[in-house]
Amino acid sequence: MNKHTKIFLISLYILYGWFLYYTYVLIDSFTFDTEIIFFIVILIILMNLSMFYNYKSKVQTAIFLPALIPAIVIFNPFWNIIIATLGSVKFMKFKEGKLIWYKFIFNRVMLGLSAGISAYIFNIFYVDYFNNNIILSILIASIVYFIINNLLLFIVINLSEEKQEISFMVYLTELSKNIFVSYFLGLLLYFSYTQFGKLFFLLVIILIYIVKDFFFSRIQLLNSFTQVIESFLKVIDSKDHYTEGHCERVAKYTNKLCDAANVNQRKKERIVNMAKIHDIGKIYVDDEILKSEDVLSDEEFKEMKKHSKYGYELLKDIDMLNDDLEIILHHHEFYNGNGYPKGIKEKEIPLGSRILNICDSFDVMTTGRSYKKALNKEETIREFERCSGKQFDPELADEIIKLIKNGELDESFKDKNI
Ligand SMILES: [Fe+2]
Ligand SMILES: [Fe+2]
Repeated sequence: MNKHTKIFLISLYILYGWFLYYTYVLIDSFTFDTEIIFFIVILIILMNLSMFYNYKSKVQTAIFLPALIPAIVIFNPFWNIIIATLGSVKFMKFKEGKLIWYKFIFNRVMLGLSAGISAYIFNIFYVDYFNNNIILSILIASIVYFIINNLLLFIVINLSEEKQEISFMVYLTELSKNIFVSYFLGLLLYFSYTQFGKLFFLLVIILIYIVKDFFFSRIQLLNSFTQVIESFLKVIDSKDHYTEGHCERVAKYTNKLCDAANVNQRKKERIVNMAKIHDIGKIYVDDEILKSEDVLSDEEFKEMKKHSKYGYELLKDIDMLNDDLEIILHHHEFYNGNGYPKGIKEKEIPLGSRILNICDSFDVMTTGRSYKKALNKEETIREFERCSGKQFDPELADEIIKLIKNGELDESFKDKNI
């Protein structure tokens, strides 16, 4: 632990001690309520079960806050500090021998302080500003809890130089989603507890767990999907150095063209994912052909043309991909039916393939090949106009021409003056 971290932690512990004392003094008559034990036990059980876990930002959204919200409303700040400090102990770490004492203390203090301060703020807003409006006051309490909790965590992670894998912005966006979810779950739990009693409160928590597992498995699936796509990308690049980065660039253009063509978000994501791996079939194409610097002979071209079919065949047994593989199979079909492998035309060609074909061609035009120099902006526009209705879907060709003219694809042109 470095010096700065030590100073920070010592100051934090002093603040905790002072705040605990301060809130204790505020209490008019000191009475211990057995409900406090109930909350501590519930929180310990929840803490030692699984959590909401976000793979992207690694922000952990515990069910801890939602379950703490009834306590924030019912008890004074002092008892909230005690409940959060004791209720957040994770016994798994003791058992596994993974306990690092300073992290253990920091976590208790962080959660205790977050709970205590948010209960304190809750009382002020409930009485002074929101005219006893419980819903708004809980919102403020949740936001305060999140800000303190995450700020302390962020400071300590940065001071201790533990590597931050995510950008602050991604962290903030994920965090705001977590505040939103926690707030509504908190409201739900608060009303369950106060209106229907402990048993109902417990039933709602169990229900949340069932729903959570459903979401969690979906998140895991999406996570492995992204990993699969990324590994394929590496395979393609390692095989075909000349076009290195081609699939990634095509995916970027696909994203823009989908937006321009008003493709909905869900469909767009699927098309972009297919764009990232559209040339995967090239791993079966002979190296000599792939690396050839000359115009391909008829025979070689015939072999090269098989890559869209090869890609389709390679991936068709993967359940989570197979709905979208048609996009890969048909990415070299022409609007007028002169493409391959099937020679289908117009709207028979899946939308994703028509978009992909345009973006693929755009990348080839702007990067050039050893036998063909890269086109400039004017030449690219002319090429799209010339092939519109022949190779390209005319409506989509219009859209890419607009994007080029508006300068949204300027960075792709090698000759920046034009
Ligand atoms: Fe291709
Ligand atoms: Fe391609």
